[in-house]
Amino acid sequence: MDIKKYLKERKKLIDEYLERYFTDSYRPSRLRESMVYSLLAGGKRIRPILCMSAYEIFQPNVKDIVPYAAAIEFIHTYSLIHDDLPAMDNDDLRRGKPTNHKIYGDGMAILAGDGLLTEAFYVLSNCKHPCNESVPFSANTLLRVINDISRYAGLYGMVAGQAQDLLSEGAEPDESTLSFIHTHKTSALITSSVRIGAVLAKAKEEDILLLTKYGMNIGLAFQIVDDIIDITESTETLGKQRGADERKKKMTYPSLFGLKQAQKKADELIEIAIKTLESFDKKAEPLRQIALYLKDRKS
Ligand code: IPE
Ligand code: IPE
Ligand code: MG
Ligand code: MG
Ligand code: MG
Repeated sequence: MDIKKYLKERKKLIDEYLERYFTDSYRPSRLRESMVYSLLAGGKRIRPILCMSAYEIFQPNVKDIVPYAAAIEFIHTYSLIHDDLPAMDNDDLRRGKPTNHKIYGDGMAILAGDGLLTEAFYVLSNCKHPCNESVPFSANTLLRVINDISRYAGLYGMVAGQAQDLLSEGAEPDESTLSFIHTHKTSALITSSVRIGAVLAKAKEEDILLLTKYGMNIGLAFQIVDDIIDITESTETLGKQRGADERKKKMTYPSLFGLKQAQKKADELIEIAIKTLESFDKKAEPLRQIALYLKDRKS
């Protein structure tokens, strides 16, 4: 399959939804502008795409879940806005543009993040979006989706990882802390994205477990690659400042193992992830190809 074409088509579905989401009548307009600025600044949309690809293993009509998949991007974008704040990573560049707080100030950036995070749950708790009116999801299914993402994006997932990431700045790297940081700050939301796709598709529990394993492995590989390209790629390619981790004395895989071993680790995780999909037929091909694409990405 042509994975580039597949990613482009799925990304378009998400981008179109996000572009239409906030209407001009929203007040205060400055808050809307701030949210829209980061939301539409670009981005690979890999989490919503993973959600859709997992759904597509079991159900044909991926358009039915676009709002739910897009809600994951609200959560991801909030995490980036807050991650860049002076009190966190203090970055000036994101998705090739000045970071949110550089344009709108710290206060509005914090609120844009708060707004996007909360709005995600507003979207996820609606079982009848205009594009899926004919096949509404049950309250039980959506409750499970909300429960899942609350766990993986919150105190038992991304927020915990972000906290440990800050607490570990400047510390001597050790494998167990590093693994905690990366599996929580990044792998958790990626895992939940895949799981949500399967839950919405009413997949069997054993299949949800297999997809969880896939998500955890590609999620950890995703952050290891993020650490690697922070060193090896240019600011222009990354769309964010190169060398940001070294500047903040972050605990990363290359800082503990070196670049070569870090890449080897990422490759191994991707291999495990692909193996996990063995029992699925060719409908899981997008997930296999996405795993390979993530291993070699440059931005
Ligand atoms: C960046 O995520 C933050 C990490 C978890 C490494 P992405 O690399 O998915 O960023 P965008 O959404 O494409 O900008
Ligand atoms: C951030 O990790 C993970 C998030 C939850 C946002 P990084 O701090 O390494 O992400 P970048 O490199 O700034 O995108
Ligand atoms: Mg960070
Ligand atoms: Mg950062
Ligand atoms: Mg990084």
